[in-house]
Amino acid sequence: MDRDAILLTPGPLTTTLRTKLAMLRDWGSWDADFNALTAELRRQLLAIVHGEGTHVVVPLQGSGTFSVEAAVATVVPRDGHVLVLDNGAYCKRFGKLATLMGRRTTIHARAEDEPVSAEELDAMLRADPSITHVGFIHCETGTGVLNPLKAIADVCARHGKGLIVDAMSSFGALPIDAREVRFDALVAASGKCLEGVPGMGFVILRKEVLARCEGHSHSLAMDLYDQHAYMEKTGQWRFTPPTHVVAALAEAVGQFVEEGGQPARLARYRDNCETLVSGLRELGLKPFLKPEIQAPIIVTFHAPNDPKYEFKTFYAAAKRRGFILYPGKLTQVETFRVGCIGAIGRNEMQQAVNAVGETMREMGLST
Ligand SMILES: Cc1ncc(COP(=O)(O)O)c(C=O)c1O
Repeated sequence: MDRDAILLTPGPLTTTLRTKLAMLRDWGSWDADFNALTAELRRQLLAIVHGEGTHVVVPLQGSGTFSVEAAVATVVPRDGHVLVLDNGAYCKRFGKLATLMGRRTTIHARAEDEPVSAEELDAMLRADPSITHVGFIHCETGTGVLNPLKAIADVCARHGKGLIVDAMSSFGALPIDAREVRFDALVAASGKCLEGVPGMGFVILRKEVLARCEGHSHSLAMDLYDQHAYMEKTGQWRFTPPTHVVAALAEAVGQFVEEGGQPARLARYRDNCETLVSGLRELGLKPFLKPEIQAPIIVTFHAPNDPKYEFKTFYAAAKRRGFILYPGKLTQVETFRVGCIGAIGRNEMQQAVNAVGETMREMGLST
């Protein structure tokens, strides 16, 4: 089949032809046209969270994790103490990177099939006044669980603690309003729900927080204070920008606005998620999470309970039918994941369900 497979993965994901075509132009990194593109993109990203006047967007080269590291390096002073609320793989990664960067880090682990708890956070902040910042993952992509952003932000605000939000897999799809949710830094990336291509992240920082961050970072490349100061002064990125990725994201954000912004994107992803879950349920496959805590971003399914099941073969058979699935990330139970995000709709999801059905028949799997 002379067509790209549909990526049912949480980034890289399937992009539109318009977004792909936006990468066919070379840009000079010092050129006024490219500076204008960056400035407009930053403005549009800020508008998505209603952060005009109060926050700034600082883009950074690299995959999403680079921006999470940069947010921690920039916002948390070297003698700070980060509490990470952990209910999955990306929370653990946050804890690991904060530890490796030499910040004192406490990891509070919870079950992977439940959201993190604002009540528990409240108790922990009461018990340990040395905690200065909380690290929080909005949608834990390891399972697909939605964590309670507003409740967590309210507890942090009440205790006067900083909050760093990893909104990598939720930004653009789930509502985030900086006028109502108080955070120090919120991190996302180009190749997720905005449907750009991977290669850059961005951090939305509260202005009054960023103003106090000079000299916090132990790393030159990860210093968002410096990146921001340079960009404000010159209009340019500090080091070589991922020009084609920026152009693709600017094009993708234009389409995001045309589609109707965050509410429209959420509606499409919800529809994708419902088509997927109801279709795979009919095939006998059950989601790992309860529906009320499932974000419409990525769904973890229990693997077929059949000795003939093996992810590699299952994956290869679905790929032959034009669909790229994602392995599970749980250690205790055999699972696989299916993303609901990207430039796809109900038709593609229904075709994906059909492909999984055919794959199961071919492998002779029962559930
Ligand atoms: C919640 C979350 N955090 C961080 C990341 C960043 O990962 P990467 O560095 O591979 O882009 C991802 C990517 O899927 C994610 O879903």
